[in-house]
Amino acid sequence: MKIFVAGATGAIGRPLIAQLLAKEHDVVALTRSPERAKVLAEQGVEPAIADVFDGEAVKAAVICAQPEVVIEQLTSLPKTYTGESMSAAAVLNTRIRKEGGANVLAASQAAGVRRYLRQSIAFWGVPDTGLADEETPLAFDASPAVAADVRTVIEIERRLLETPNLEGIILRYGFFYGSGTWFAPDGDVAQQVRQQQFPIVGNGEGMWSWLHIEDAAIATVAAAERGNPGIYLITGDRPLKVREWLSAFARWLNAPPPPQISVEDALQTGGADAVYYGTQMRGASNAKAKRELNFQPRPLEWMVDTAVGRAS
Ligand SMILES: NC(=O)c1ccc[n+]([C@@H]2O[C@H](COP(=O)([O-])OP(=O)(O)OC[C@H]3O[C@@H](n4cnc5c(N)ncnc54)[C@H](OP(=O)(O)O)[C@@H]3O)[C@@H](O)[C@H]2O)c1
Repeated sequence: MKIFVAGATGAIGRPLIAQLLAKEHDVVALTRSPERAKVLAEQGVEPAIADVFDGEAVKAAVICAQPEVVIEQLTSLPKTYTGESMSAAAVLNTRIRKEGGANVLAASQAAGVRRYLRQSIAFWGVPDTGLADEETPLAFDASPAVAADVRTVIEIERRLLETPNLEGIILRYGFFYGSGTWFAPDGDVAQQVRQQQFPIVGNGEGMWSWLHIEDAAIATVAAAERGNPGIYLITGDRPLKVREWLSAFARWLNAPPPPQISVEDALQTGGADAVYYGTQMRGASNAKAKRELNFQPRPLEWMVDTAVGRAS
């Protein structure tokens, strides 16, 4: 199939391009950078150079490419994962998903694209019990940044699912780990853990749903090829409480054990959002993706063998 990818050069874009080429798809990829366009061309991808905020340029690129499928992986996130860096990035990250995404969607409609997949987030479901599924209500009344992101997610998901004459697929990804992510051994969170700057908050009951970046790419290709219109939660098999995954992550890195701080201290230092991630976030179920996409995520790498550190 001819597939146009927006966000082709980021953490998920890179393995996604490799998977699409391995499945012999014909790939056109958007980037702002002539240097990254050159690298894409060397890989066998047709680059399209445009800024996603330039609606006319994006429209021209998609109409010129005439793809059957568009995959939107646009974000504008920092290389560091701290309260400060995430707050500083929030305005542009929201704008790229709303305004940038609207430009790619409008261009896709103008070009007569059949199917459109977009990145979304798996962590915001609030189930009564157990794990969140695709129907579970989201955390509208959570801490400020989380609630704002939930509103953005709902808006961009609805916009796609309500677009006529287009098969819209929402991919709600778990927390990326693996090469090029915050949680790689050379990533920012690993660095913070080595310096004991990434604490367990309170009882560490917040549940994190993980996703290896290669598994994200594999599931995305499966959804592009044979997914049904609608929402898919794409996460690993076993959401884990912070006190479990963070302690194991530290052991895997040969780092000292993570410090533990009280909710009151976390409110002072990291604010309500840090408390939400640390103590309230809920896990997500990948049952639908397994059933419909034959999704087979790998186990979280630092839970496989944490008796001996492996990633120092
Ligand atoms: N679910 C998750 O856990 C999750 C999801 C997303 C990201 N993250 C994390 O966030 C960190 C940074 O993400 P990232 O490496 O993907 O980088 P990023 O800076 O968020 O860039 C993502 C993609 O968006 C494109 N893009 C950004 N602004 C654009 C614009 N104005 N016009 C056209 N394209 C634009 C970039 O293309 P060009 O720069 O080539 O133009 C790039 O391909 C990573 O650690 C990643 O793991 C986590």
